[in-house]
Amino acid sequence: VNDAHAAPRSVGVVVVAAGSGTRLGADVPKAFVQVAGRSLLSYAVERVTQVAHLARLVIVVPEGHGTATALGDVAPVPEGTVVVPGGAERTDSVRAGLAEVGEVDIVLIHDAARAFTPVAVFDRVVAAVAAGASGAVPGLPVVDTIKAVDADGTITGTPDRAGLRAVQTPQGFDADVLRAAYASGLSATDDAALVETLGHHVRVVAGDPLAFKVTTPEDLARAQRLVASWAASVD
Ligand code: CTP
Ligand code: MG
Repeated sequence: VNDAHAAPRSVGVVVVAAGSGTRLGADVPKAFVQVAGRSLLSYAVERVTQVAHLARLVIVVPEGHGTATALGDVAPVPEGTVVVPGGAERTDSVRAGLAEVGEVDIVLIHDAARAFTPVAVFDRVVAAVAAGASGAVPGLPVVDTIKAVDADGTITGTPDRAGLRAVQTPQGFDADVLRAAYASGLSATDDAALVETLGHHVRVVAGDPLAFKVTTPEDLARAQRLVASWAASVD
């Protein structure tokens, strides 16, 4: 399809924010944890609303957290934005969000916990899918040597680092392909893995260190330093 680049395609984004944040260990679900007075979710959504051709935003929140809690400090969301409760596993939350995304060409699944992912990363993912890939995910080269091990910890192999990428979100897909993947009933920790399993072509585009996931208290401290450095550079 030679006009794939020319035709603007409608993009739906599902922000999954329904996890509890066990490893972070805060007293509120991770997406509502504050950094410089704002929730992680608000930083994530602020970036998502700048994505080109955004047609639909779905925010998946923990059960029992209504739209008011979820959007309390999330500054203006596009008309038609939906807030839905998630499920026990991330896959369940993605499925709940996907059900609300409606008629769009491309769906992006994004972790609220990757709250500082630059808009340019979203745009690279969308561009790769618009150019014909069934899916595209941001990734970074792996800096550590990775070992494959058996149950005893004995090394069974050393994959060539040059052929490895650490992947991030947003992960973007042709909407029909992603729906088919979720309808298959398979489950995976990574949306791309589902789509790969069905034999589709998924590409890795350049990720960004700022797309790091807030997982542990150390990551939250990093987020706080990051936002503080931005505030300092504005003054
Ligand atoms: N997520 C979700 N629903 C779940 C589990 C996770 O929507 N049942 C979301 C999280 O809110 C997060 C993203 O998926 O934005 C990545 O998950 P992770 O970083 O593992 O978050 P948590 O599951 O909340 O953290 P933990 O695993 O430490 O409990
Ligand atoms: Mg988790």
